[in-house]
Amino acid sequence: MDRLIIRGGRRIEGSVQVSGAKNAALPQIATALLSSEPLELTNIPAVADVDTMLAMMREFGVVVSRGPGRLLTLDASRARNSDAPYDLVRRMRASILVLAPLLVRFGSARVSMPGGCAIGARPIDLHLKALQTLGAEVSMDSGYIHARLKEDRLRGGRVVLSSPSVGATETALMAASLARGETEILNAARDPEVCDLAHCLVAMGVHIEGAGTHRVLINGVEKLRRARHDLISDRIEAGTYAIAAAITGGNLEILGAHLEHLGTVGAILENAGVAIWPTDRGLMVSRSGPLRSVDVTTEAYPGFPSDLQAQFMALMTIAPGASVIRETVFEGRFMHVPELNRLGANISLQGSAALVRGVERLHGAEVMATDLRASVSLVLAALVAEGQTTVHRIYHLDRGYESLDHKLVQCGADIHRVSE
Ligand code: EPZ
Repeated sequence: MDRLIIRGGRRIEGSVQVSGAKNAALPQIATALLSSEPLELTNIPAVADVDTMLAMMREFGVVVSRGPGRLLTLDASRARNSDAPYDLVRRMRASILVLAPLLVRFGSARVSMPGGCAIGARPIDLHLKALQTLGAEVSMDSGYIHARLKEDRLRGGRVVLSSPSVGATETALMAASLARGETEILNAARDPEVCDLAHCLVAMGVHIEGAGTHRVLINGVEKLRRARHDLISDRIEAGTYAIAAAITGGNLEILGAHLEHLGTVGAILENAGVAIWPTDRGLMVSRSGPLRSVDVTTEAYPGFPSDLQAQFMALMTIAPGASVIRETVFEGRFMHVPELNRLGANISLQGSAALVRGVERLHGAEVMATDLRASVSLVLAALVAEGQTTVHRIYHLDRGYESLDHKLVQCGADIHRVSE
């Protein structure tokens, strides 16, 4: 397993190019199964989770080809039904996103229960309820989900989500796209990645209104057409680099980022003493003055994203005073806390809240990555810690960040990757 050796004390400066959004790529790759015409996706990020989803597609006979640059062509014309195998599904929770396309395309589906990050229970009840509302029969046995159509096609209906689940909204969007009649999704997730999936489905010929709001209307079609769609940039990667500049007192232009995709993150960073503003190439982040402790509660988009909670916590470890960080999206998403404390932070947990008391400085140490976003919070802390930090098990990082170490080195960081 690889590890990163980081020497702290360098400012993050210059510019960095954000890659395509991992969490937009995954549902759109799954969506290719809905169609017998090719789907071309551009701006595909080179991350391990995309490779896992593509391996899943090949299991179903989808022809995957890479074009020039970051073009991906998916041809499911000769796809065939098969189980979504445990050894692939257990690697990534997003594997559940193949359930709806398999069901709709082939009339039945068998998908292993998902695995993925170690952040909380992460049930899939909202996905299954959405499919049942639209006319699917769903059962579970020996660790597999079985779904089948009761008629020849799903039938449009009213899907009311008890919480604005990103994945369940995407399952409902994909299922409704080929259903007979109109589907209404209430309490839909409003995340940019959900909107991007809707834009991809519209390019494939589906009629969708209201993407990005709580209420989405979908008029299903009989067949999807050939389409090409350009993925949005990764707002969580952009937010991560913004915090890298903030924590090191640097000055960084983040190319391809969109400030509005960050929701309330911009305002929170401003309150913490960080300047952040849009440029014609993306956005600029700069911090020259002192940091300020700021309380944060994670919420569904456009609230502060759970996926930036660990990174923001790293920033608060060196902000004078104390901040309370509440995690309301995933219980247990505090695996980074003991590791940050090994670097000299002063964080205590009280249920779903972390109390972060700012310290003068952090000190390098050996730390262990546990899940994707926890891992990158350790890298951010190491950038400002005195001395050398070793971050082990960085395969977690490679699941969702393209060339993180190379990109940070280009911005002035002292990092090198060692293969164990
Ligand atoms: C997506 O996960 C993202 N993953 C996550 O990013 C992100 O943290 C999350 O949305 C929230 O923004 C992808 O898009 C591939 P949810 P998802 O369904 O869809 C509960 C990363 O690091 N829930 O919005 O799994 C669930 O337990 C990953 O890139 C149910 O109760 O998240 C959680 O508490 C981590 N039943 C809350 O909803 C369900 O059927 C939000 O989950 C589904 C979800």
